Amino acid sequence: MTTATASNAAVDTAHNATSTTISNEDFLATVAEKSDGAALRGDYKLADTQYVVEQNWDRYTEEEHELWRKLYQRQEALLPGRACNEFIDALHKMNAAGGIPDFEQTSAALFKATGWRIVAVPGLIPEFTFFEHLANRRFPVTVWLRTPEEFNYIVEPDVFHDYFGHVPMLFNPVFADYMQLYGKGGLKAMGLGGLDYLARLYWYTVEFGLINTPEGLRIYGAGILSSGGEVEYCLKSGTTSRHIHLDIQRCLRTLYKIDSYQESYFVINSFQELFDGTAPDFAPYYEKLKQLEALPADTLLAGEIELLA
Ligand code: PHE
Ligand code: CO
Repeated sequence: MTTATASNAAVDTAHNATSTTISNEDFLATVAEKSDGAALRGDYKLADTQYVVEQNWDRYTEEEHELWRKLYQRQEALLPGRACNEFIDALHKMNAAGGIPDFEQTSAALFKATGWRIVAVPGLIPEFTFFEHLANRRFPVTVWLRTPEEFNYIVEPDVFHDYFGHVPMLFNPVFADYMQLYGKGGLKAMGLGGLDYLARLYWYTVEFGLINTPEGLRIYGAGILSSGGEVEYCLKSGTTSRHIHLDIQRCLRTLYKIDSYQESYFVINSFQELFDGTAPDFAPYYEKLKQLEALPADTLLAGEIELLA
């Protein structure tokens, strides 16, 4: 999710294929302009008012299932010692190694675990709709899969990013609650001029978040976990990126990169800490932030500690 314009949504990358939304204006402009579907990939013709479509699982080709298996295998092999246990355990329960999964099956298991459902969408959807889905415990997953040429690089989030990256964490009850409240917070932020700030929190937690565990730093962010390169990069010592404890207001103030690996990773100690830290009313935060300059993505403030050993 980002308040991306149509143009910056289109420079999103594979290690970074994370935008789920596009602002309403840009969305409508892009769809109108590009009736050939060149800018926004996906078929919006059959979408309902919530942008929900049928997954039409039978329509995936054997080549697409094969590409999925390759993406899955490459990515799964990178997870041990890097992804958090919550992610790995849930992924394995999802049984999605054999081909592009049928959302209905995962959705039923997910609903039993945390009351969330998966809904199929054609691709990027407007912010308001995205927030409404989250606020009602529905996670929108793009139906189409990248092409083989896009194995390492893709300009918009596809089914692999959305499903492999995001769905496992929704099996965690605390994280699942956080996501719902984020959706409610998004709807509220729209009326407060707070969207740019709130989008940074999504970026640095849901997409690029790290968690501190007794075994060391681990990944829970979907943008990293669906990326071939950043899974290794983000936990490598000696890079130019920083790994600092998540302070909510500091994060809301921090710009992010959409076309390179992250220069800052924010680390939580637990999902409960994330939930509790985002519980306060953000309205006063937004007012304060409007008076301040945003911080560049490579900022390290006095007193901030590098957490990667
Ligand atoms: N508590 C925030 C508000 O009042 C909403 C929010 C919750 C935002 C959880 C992000 C995550 O605006
Ligand atoms: Co994403």
